[in-house]
Amino acid sequence: MSDPERLTRKIRAALAPCSLGRWPTPLEPAPALARTLGLDALWLKREDRSAPRCGGNKVRGLELLLAGAPAGSVFVTVGGTGSTHCLATAVHAAALSCRAALAQFPQPETEASRAVAAACDAHAALVVRARTRAALPLALLGAWRGAGRLGPRRWVPGGGAHPRAVVGHLLAALELAHQLPGPPDAIVAPLGTGGTLAGLLLGVAQLGWPTRVIGVRVAPVLVANRWRTLRLAWGARRLLARLAVPLPAPRSPVVVDGLGRGYGHPSPAGEAAGRCAVEHGLVLDPTYGAKAFAFLMGRGTCNVHRVIFWHTFGVPSPVPEPGR
Ligand SMILES: Cc1ncc(COP(=O)(O)O)c(C=O)c1O
Repeated sequence: MSDPERLTRKIRAALAPCSLGRWPTPLEPAPALARTLGLDALWLKREDRSAPRCGGNKVRGLELLLAGAPAGSVFVTVGGTGSTHCLATAVHAAALSCRAALAQFPQPETEASRAVAAACDAHAALVVRARTRAALPLALLGAWRGAGRLGPRRWVPGGGAHPRAVVGHLLAALELAHQLPGPPDAIVAPLGTGGTLAGLLLGVAQLGWPTRVIGVRVAPVLVANRWRTLRLAWGARRLLARLAVPLPAPRSPVVVDGLGRGYGHPSPAGEAAGRCAVEHGLVLDPTYGAKAFAFLMGRGTCNVHRVIFWHTFGVPSPVPEPGR
């Protein structure tokens, strides 16, 4: 058994995640898309295919955040109306005979955000939507109180941004050891609340790769920034150290701006990236994937040739779970 495999087993044994996804997610070479982008090599890490019920990057963290909750628990979390974190929490809570109460703030409507919002309504036990961002604390209070009437509550931070969840993303990075013959120059991922990138930083450090981890910021700087990402990475490292799993220190990520007009607003660069990707059979969402991919199209002087693109958006299932 190789070191990354042994480490994965040790971490799983120490943290006892529940089983929600199918691992490893595929790593697919995309040679035609690489040629179009002028790269020597491009691979797609298919985090979108992490679970048949509802895939996406958030499943990694939820396996650790939802673990150990008794049946009937109600997970309370927060996000935009098109939040795949909210949706994944609701869908996977149901799979564990639990429920979800969601507090949501408004975000610009797109086809993707509408589909996610509809799926949240179908899968969550309670959705409290704030009319404005400023009213989110009230919505959160409503969701928290409402959840209390449904069963024992458990808080899940927005975006699943918690050191335990970061460990899930670290496991994703360790999968790469068996999927690639050698380190890529860069891994490019959307940067929202930072947990995904934090796990990638720890994974790359553990593999001893010189790979740069590039986060394309798609949320306001208060939420999505290098400091918060590193804080999450160090938190996860401390958590694992306490469980006798020492890891090397993470390096800093490269953070580039892809926000445009604001969170959830499609950007012209993202739209162009989405059109280019779809010609190669890659469907990207406008809030995260398209903006991150736009970086690869316009990377200019950034000297990367062999790249992994972290494909994070799981398409929501339109079918409600029975007996939610
Ligand atoms: C589809 C998708 N991609 C990427 C991200 C960003 O991940 P993180 O919040 O861990 O930075 C999110 C966060 O909600 C997401 O929903």
